[in-house]
Formats: sequence, structure tokens, C-alpha cells
Amino acid sequence: MPSRRKVILGVVGLAAVGVGAAAMLRRKPPPVRPAGVPLSAFDAESTAEEVTAGVDLTGKTALVTGVTSGIGLETMRVLALRGAHVIGTGRTLEKATAACAGVVGRTRPLALELTDFPSVVACASAVQALGVPLDILVCNAGIMALPNLEQVYGLEKQFVTNHLGHFLLVNHLLAQVQSAPQGRVVVVSSSALKWADETAIEWDNLSGERDYSANRAYGQSKLANSLFSLQLARRMAGTATTSNSMNPGAVLTQLQRHAPAWAVSLGNVVGPAFMKSPAEGASTACYLAANPAVEKVSGRYFIDCNPVVIGGNSENPELAEKLWQVSADLVREYLV
Ligand SMILES: NC(=O)c1ccc[n+]([C@@H]2O[C@H](COP(=O)([O-])OP(=O)(O)OC[C@H]3O[C@@H](n4cnc5c(N)ncnc54)[C@H](OP(=O)(O)O)[C@@H]3O)[C@@H](O)[C@H]2O)c1
Repeated sequence: MPSRRKVILGVVGLAAVGVGAAAMLRRKPPPVRPAGVPLSAFDAESTAEEVTAGVDLTGKTALVTGVTSGIGLETMRVLALRGAHVIGTGRTLEKATAACAGVVGRTRPLALELTDFPSVVACASAVQALGVPLDILVCNAGIMALPNLEQVYGLEKQFVTNHLGHFLLVNHLLAQVQSAPQGRVVVVSSSALKWADETAIEWDNLSGERDYSANRAYGQSKLANSLFSLQLARRMAGTATTSNSMNPGAVLTQLQRHAPAWAVSLGNVVGPAFMKSPAEGASTACYLAANPAVEKVSGRYFIDCNPVVIGGNSENPELAEKLWQVSADLVREYLV
């Protein structure tokens, strides 16, 4: 049993970490805004319900990947609350069904295992079989910072799960999104894309075998998310279909599940002091998916329901184009 003194010191220490982190977050320089993109009055504390208040999604169909927990679950819940028919995907039909059962509104569970390309194709086929336009497609599912190198199809697993699986899914469903009056693709990226600042996309190390860093590989996959969204927006230019990527902020979810147990426990204790709740963490995805203010906005990166220019690799059009080509090559046999 720890002594009372140790417990008090521990609690004080954890509180100090939380307060320090909150102070660091507050000291950030003001964001750079892109010209010509409307700003919203929402901020880091806005919830998904608040940013979609008054929006009627009745008659619209949405698909959200990774609805079994965290941001995806809240995004599905709020889009369904606003009247959308939400297709919620989980790695198994059982998990997706359980998640959908906990949500009020019209939902439909589907299995989608992003590391299994036939599963991605089967999911897309099931959506196509519905025979309705797909108004909203939120690419949310993801994994973070696997401590050791794991591979699928000979490729590093975070790149496959977070980027390549979604690349394949979107390509299969793009015609259906384009058949909607104003289809929207929302790709959940992360500030962690900066972790790939120096290396960008390691074309010669997509297997991760040359060298592997858990954080850099996660950063690369999140950079890929934003580059994919950018290139999709460029390809959709001149049409009503939009594509935007976003950083949800630091959100208290299950994403840290691969971190050491002590870090998970620490996060659970101090996290609520400075991290967003899922209700706040899902706000930017829901804003981009549903708010009329952004119906003509495409190819942008959002934080806290507002566009930001973050510069660097994520806005590099050559990199975005090359990523599209390389990704298409990697999944070529599943694209037809
Ligand atoms: N939380 C944050 O602070 C934060 C910050 C920046 C960006 N993000 C991004 O936000 C997104 C959602 O994360 P979260 O924080 O809500 O984490 P989460 O609670 O762990 O949810 C992740 C979801 O992705 C699903 N998933 C994982 N691997 C999958 C696979 N191979 N195939 C299909 N689905 C898979 C999970 O399903 P299972 O439960 O079945 O594994 C779960 O539904 C991720 O893209 C993440 O990178 C989060």
C-alpha cells in the first residue's frame, strides 16, 4: 500500500502535469487562416451537437468508419440525431451492430476491416447495393503508434489502416458520393502529421523495415490522410463534391490503447483536465460533414471547426499527387 504522503504527492504531480499542459496549449501562436474560407464562431469547446444545431439531415445518407468508440461513435450519434441514415462500420459486424444499437435514429451496421482489402471492397459493395447517393463519407477509423513494427500486405500497418484502406474505400464509393447533390468526404487526420515533417512519406520504407518509429509511422499515416484529402479535392474541383481533412484535437478516447499501461493510466487521470471529450472531439468532423457554411469549401484542413494553414508537407501538391499514384498502384488489384 502506498503511504498517504506518496498518494498526495502523486495527485499533486498529476495535477501539475495537467495544468502545465493546459498552459502550453494556451500559449500557442494564433493560427494562420486561408483567404476566402468562412470562419465559424465555434471553438475547441464546441460540441458536435452544437455545431450541427438546426441542421436537418433527413433524407441524407452518411457513412462513418470506426464507430465502435471515440470520435467515430459520437460522429455517428450526432449525424443520426440530425436525421441522417448513418452506416456505421466496425471491424466486425457484431461490433458495428452493438455500436449502432446504442444510438438513437436510423443506423445500419456494416463490417469493415481496413487491413483486409477484400473486406473493404465487400463493405463498399454493400453500400453500393443500397442504391442511394452517399451524401457524407467520414474516414475516421484509425490506430496510433504501434510500439513494434507490424505489417499487412508487406506494408507498415498504420499506413494501411489509416490511409490505404480508406483510399480504397473512398475510390469505390466516389461515384456514389458524386451522385449526391453535394457529397462531402471528411478525412480525420491529426496534428501528429507534423511528426513526419522531416521524412514526409518514406516511399522507400513503406514496409517500415528499413527503420521503424512508432510515432513517425503514425505521423506519416496522418500526413497521408491530409494529402489524400487534398488530392481528392483537386480531382473533384469544379464539381459539387468536397473533401476536407481535419485535426480533432487531443481527445480522450481509446486511441492510446497501444501505449504503455502506465501512460494510459496517467492519461485517464490527467486527460480530462486538458483533453477534449468525444463530444468536443467529434465537432469538427460533424461541422465539415453537415454544416451548410462549408458546402463550397474543399481541399482545406480544419481545427476546432475553422480552417487553418499549417504549411509544410501536408499542403504539397506534388506529394499529394504522388501519394495518389503510389496508393492506386498498391491496391490496384482491388480497385476494379
Ligand atoms: N483521440 C485523439 O486525441 C486523436 C487526435 C488526432 C487524431 N485522431 C484520429 O481520430 C480518429 C478516431 O480515433 P479515436 O481517437 O476515436 O480512437 P478510438 O477510440 O481508438 O477509435 C478508433 C476506431 O477505429 C477502429 N479501427 C481501428 N483499427 C481498425 C481497422 N483495422 N479497421 C477498421 N476499423 C478500425 C476502431 O475499432 P476497434 O474498436 O474495433 O479497434 C475504433 O472504432 C483516428 O483516425 C485518429 O487517428 C484522434
